[in-house]
Amino acid sequence: MSDTTGAGLQAGEPNQHGYRTFRLGEFGFSRDEYFAHIAWPTGTHTMSIDDFLRAVQRDVAWQFFYGTVNFDPVLGTVNHYGNVDLFAGTFNEAYRRAELDHVENFAHADILGTFKAILDDWTNAAFDPFAAPKETGAAWGDKAGSNLDAVSRRRVAARRMVGVPGDEPLRSDESGLPVNRMFADVSQDEPTVEPQPGFEDEVAAFSLFAYLSRSDVTWNPSVVSVCGNSLYCPTTEEYILPIIHGNDRVEWFVQLSDQIEWVVEDRDSGALRARVTMKAGDVGAMPADIRHRGYSPKRSMLLVWENASPDLPDLIASGRAPTYPVDF
Ligand code: PHB
Ligand code: FE
Repeated sequence: MSDTTGAGLQAGEPNQHGYRTFRLGEFGFSRDEYFAHIAWPTGTHTMSIDDFLRAVQRDVAWQFFYGTVNFDPVLGTVNHYGNVDLFAGTFNEAYRRAELDHVENFAHADILGTFKAILDDWTNAAFDPFAAPKETGAAWGDKAGSNLDAVSRRRVAARRMVGVPGDEPLRSDESGLPVNRMFADVSQDEPTVEPQPGFEDEVAAFSLFAYLSRSDVTWNPSVVSVCGNSLYCPTTEEYILPIIHGNDRVEWFVQLSDQIEWVVEDRDSGALRARVTMKAGDVGAMPADIRHRGYSPKRSMLLVWENASPDLPDLIASGRAPTYPVDF
């Protein structure tokens, strides 16, 4: 039984808390004052509403990202780049053994439309799912307004490099954004660029530290440079990565400031594989067969380096490319 329409969205009337209920295929979604409730034919699940909204916000903003976005150890999505799996218990050994797991595939636009509608309806005026917990009001309670500006934010994406003519000049004073309270000590000096005549449009430089010090969101990489399939996606982190990322390719991390602790698990079973502490200057690579979640006790700067080649998932899944980045 599937009651999704072409538009993918089936929204019910507001419940006693003022929130609409949603259906996507055989999945049902409802919220009350504290929780998101998710139901599917073989099971039900409950998530704290702040965690749920932070996770859905990332999945929407990143258009389902690379590979798997686990909202928690039970619920999540797998991006097949054009269509998307919504699953419950699929990457959880206990749920699979008990045959409680469930997965359905949706057209990208259908699941995106439903998730956006849930975010719009379930996010109250006081709550910003992108913000650090100390920089937002609470998600709790009966429906009280909305925060459409916050939930419709898109991550910043350069076509070439930030600062090159034609790309978003979202840096320094041009951004209109204040330096974050935790980056008050970050220098705002910009480099001096002296290109040879005729190269003014091609040579550019900017202070990445100054740029990131003004980021008003957490755990939301922006693409600051694009060179073929090589994407530099720096981001500012505070508190907990709202999703557990199961990648379909290798991903590099450069810890630019402060410290993040990573919990690394087997991608399919969730079995713990490693705890990694990255300090400023550390460089690491996450293999393609794991999932990871970061913990940042103080706001920190992280450079995520992605290889966006569309060939990689198949090369790795078929064993023609390794799951690890380099042989020493
Ligand atoms: C990741 O899953 O690798 C990831 C996602 C968002 C971030 C940082 C890392 O802000
Ligand atoms: Fe990742």
